[in-house]
Amino acid sequence: MATSEIKHPLLPFVADDGAMEELAQQYGTPVYVYDGEQLLSNLTHLDNALSSAFSLYQICFALKANTNPHLLSLMKESLPTLGADCSSPGELYIADEVGIDRERRIYTGNYESTEELKLAIESAEHLNLDDITSYERLSRIAVPKQISFRLNPGFGSGSFPEVVTAGKEAKFGIPEEKIVNAYRLAQKDGVKSFGIQCMSGSGNLDSDYFVHLLTAILENARRLEKKLGFSFSFISLGGGYGVPYENDQEPLDLDDLFGKLGKTFHEFYNPANGPVPKFMIEPGKIIIADAGFLLTRVTGIKESYKNFVGLDAGMNTFLRPALYKTYHKIFKVGEPDAPEGLVADFTGGICENTDRLATDRSFPEVEEGDLVAVMDVGAYGFSMANQYNTRPKPAEVLIENGKSHLIRRRETMEDIFSHTDWNGSKNG
Ligand SMILES: Cc1ncc(COP(=O)(O)O)c(C=O)c1O
Repeated sequence: MATSEIKHPLLPFVADDGAMEELAQQYGTPVYVYDGEQLLSNLTHLDNALSSAFSLYQICFALKANTNPHLLSLMKESLPTLGADCSSPGELYIADEVGIDRERRIYTGNYESTEELKLAIESAEHLNLDDITSYERLSRIAVPKQISFRLNPGFGSGSFPEVVTAGKEAKFGIPEEKIVNAYRLAQKDGVKSFGIQCMSGSGNLDSDYFVHLLTAILENARRLEKKLGFSFSFISLGGGYGVPYENDQEPLDLDDLFGKLGKTFHEFYNPANGPVPKFMIEPGKIIIADAGFLLTRVTGIKESYKNFVGLDAGMNTFLRPALYKTYHKIFKVGEPDAPEGLVADFTGGICENTDRLATDRSFPEVEEGDLVAVMDVGAYGFSMANQYNTRPKPAEVLIENGKSHLIRRRETMEDIFSHTDWNGSKNG
């Protein structure tokens, strides 16, 4: 790849062979490395874009993207109004622990158990339900002060089909023609405050798509308000703001995007004509994806029917490519712009043939022991890591003001088995 084609905000890190070798020696590999500056600059940029377009808005960071407590508290320190989009009891727990205000949390579950709903009603101001039956389960526990429902407008969009979360094939949300019954039931129970939410897919890079989606949500909101005689207190457009994982993709222009969304929103809700609902978003990738890379070492090179570069990171460390066949830039540490002399699949040591971090990738020649960096893993990287093949999860390191800190130590074998019963067999 010619130097001019290589683009990434964290390129200066991975081009520094000495610093990366030092990190690898100090913390071991594979290791997730985050740049605090990139993370906070993404957050500030997003907040500025929203504040220019909306007077009442809330950013709820999608915790499923990354729940490292140190990173969350850093974000909260930088933006005290930061909220959280939680989708599990664990995400509510960590929102509490890092001090994200209850009033700034939205809970979107699906197929929630009664226990989960009980916890959600206690721990999140905005409860966003995926079905009328969820509301029925909830109302047997308590009638909430406020309720929101997740709209499925009949279409969705994502960077590939597996991450489209609305439309006829999606398991999420309530169809347009059915959602009125959910609000009506809640209204009958005495609920007075309402929200509406839609999350239609992840990885969208086309600002016009978001305008199209927001228009569909607003048309539904207006129809429901007219039919049921209430006014929405919030409208959430969900997450799904994409990042350029691939070389030929351009980043979203956030000022342009939220400028257009603000204009669309205020065509429906004009402050001169009455109360304006709070505009909410639930971004994950756009805040944290490009702020993290995975530093991993080449453990073996094999020439088979095709070439393989074996790494100490696999689908257990970073699942997205195996799960979705996603493309992530990979750079040779120290020489990201070296001429490509190799076409290979990048794989780990997992006993699965889907264990891939890249397929048929043109790459500079590498040797055993070389370091490579897998880019844009800050979102859905560590949070999807797993212990398959009984391999401990990796460490996480933050670079801040030129210094590195361990923000999650590498898991040990003892950690993996710490809560199991040994039937007397341990060391026996
Ligand atoms: C309800 C909800 N909100 C927000 C997000 C965040 O999406 P993204 O990281 O694409 O912004 C997701 C991701 O799946 C989601 O399910």
